[in-house]
Amino acid sequence: MASIQSPVGRLAGKNAIVTGACGGIGFETTCLFVREGARVLMLDLNEDGLAKSASRVQRLFPDKIAPLTLKCNVSSEPEVAAAVEKLEEFGGVDVMFNNAGIMHAQDDDAINTPESIWDLTMAINVKGVWFGCKHAVKSMLKNKKPAASIINTASVVALVGSAAPQLAYTASKGAVLAMTRELAMVHARDNIRFNALCPAPLNTPLLQEWLGDDAEKRRRREIHFPTGRFGEPIEQAHAVLFLASDESRFVNGTDFVVDGGMSRAYITGEGPVTAAPVNFSQLG
Ligand SMILES: NC(=O)c1ccc[n+]([C@@H]2O[C@H](COP(=O)([O-])OP(=O)(O)OC[C@H]3O[C@@H](n4cnc5c(N)ncnc54)[C@H](O)[C@@H]3O)[C@@H](O)[C@H]2O)c1
Repeated sequence: MASIQSPVGRLAGKNAIVTGACGGIGFETTCLFVREGARVLMLDLNEDGLAKSASRVQRLFPDKIAPLTLKCNVSSEPEVAAAVEKLEEFGGVDVMFNNAGIMHAQDDDAINTPESIWDLTMAINVKGVWFGCKHAVKSMLKNKKPAASIINTASVVALVGSAAPQLAYTASKGAVLAMTRELAMVHARDNIRFNALCPAPLNTPLLQEWLGDDAEKRRRREIHFPTGRFGEPIEQAHAVLFLASDESRFVNGTDFVVDGGMSRAYITGEGPVTAAPVNFSQLG
């Protein structure tokens, strides 16, 4: 554990897995984990993206442990098991960030969501998180990890209702919250903590392209943010770093909300929008 006596990094000596590592939150989290001394295994479906993202991380942090990569579909148990196994030669996994998730364009309301989209969303967003938890727990127990942490990405839509329906996605994220809470109780005396991350909508290319220049569509969303702006992936990554590190050792079973106050808001203020931080993806 990093301390005042050993300023080597908040995750020094830890092995971590990040799923969906090429995406917004996954990439920023990988960068912070690597910066803080972890050995990171980046998992994603996107093989090209993995190679590019890993070399980007190395360019940003040339004196740190280079991340490992593996193509992995989190909805396939053998692939997840093989990914966790890859860290055994280094002593097994200490931190598992089950972050990969999809929000399908055909996901809709109760009437219009196709069953195939429901099943696909559940396979990745729920079963994928379960497989990640299952194999990480097996490794953590086997290697007698003294302070392990599992973080599962949910969403604020699991906490507040949205009139822009995405029923399968919302239900899947509710399942992530419930699953995380129960696992936290089951494994509390195994030195394995579980917390769920609840991000608000983020300023990602996907969302920004979808909003386009539709000012009214944008306004309907931005008005709910006390700060007047969407979140940035790096703001989620900082929370994940805290949850992964031993600094959060008494934080367990939480719905860890990182939303700029969005889910606590009634009437939001007026005036200038607050400045957004820079993401690693915008550097170099
Ligand atoms: N972006 C937002 O506004 C927002 C808000 C709340 C919650 N979330 C959640 O945060 C997580 C990450 O979101 P993001 O915005 O960084 O997403 P993103 O779309 O930028 O990245 C997701 C990554 O997951 C990968 N992926 C997709 N399916 C996979 C699978 N089956 N196996 C392995 N990898 C797979 C993709 O290739 C991609 O690199 C997701 O679970 C998402 O639901 C996002």
